[in-house]
Amino acid sequence: ELSPSDIAKDAAAAAAVRLVENGMRLGLGTGSTAAFMVRRLAAFVKEDGLQLRCAATSKATADLAESLGMKVETLDDIGWLDLTIDGADELDPDLNLIKGGGAALLREKIVASASDRMVVMADGSKVVETLGAFHLPVEVIPFGWQTTKQLIDRMLTLMDLDGRPILQRKRDDAPLLTDEGNYILDLSLEAIPEPARLSAALNAIPGVVENGLFIGLCDLAIIGKPDGEVVELRP
Ligand code: A5P
Repeated sequence: ELSPSDIAKDAAAAAAVRLVENGMRLGLGTGSTAAFMVRRLAAFVKEDGLQLRCAATSKATADLAESLGMKVETLDDIGWLDLTIDGADELDPDLNLIKGGGAALLREKIVASASDRMVVMADGSKVVETLGAFHLPVEVIPFGWQTTKQLIDRMLTLMDLDGRPILQRKRDDAPLLTDEGNYILDLSLEAIPEPARLSAALNAIPGVVENGLFIGLCDLAIIGKPDGEVVELRP
């Protein structure tokens, strides 16, 4: 039995999979909504004998896709992608996103940037006027991470933003490691008035690898509703 939010996620996933055509090179996103999409895609491939080349944005997604009989290749094997289908934690009217709730933001951003189109699936609760209510994940190198955290803190103060970075994601009492072996710091900013400016400032700090702001990458958002209907948003 699916909850109303799962019905919304699956409806968005079903609509996204309808964009997939034979021969496409696809990026597969990460998270619970992306998992609905991968299940539907695997069924589609099986039933229609679709030929696809797929790269995954996380080990978790690669494992899921392979468990469903799909072949997953590395991004470098494929080289460039026609379409990436992913979830998001928040999206604004320009289709700027916060991603990384599932700690996969780095591979997600690399894959989305290597795609002609990025389509995001979400339920309506994730659509906001201004990004920032969701904590902003920042992927940092473990070496000197406490200094990197101080530099982020100082930069936020200079930009007049509140939201001290904290390392809150743990696994067995140790900091959670991303698929690329880095840590995630989370910033509670409440509101991000200038996402592009903040993203650039964060990425200018040496220990920062990437941040969860996806600016100008998303071409289409498919918003699922609890009654199974979908609405499309374009920037
Ligand atoms: C993964 O790192 C995130 O960017 C996900 O896309 C995001 O957390 C959405 O996940 P759900 O579909 O589970 O909400």
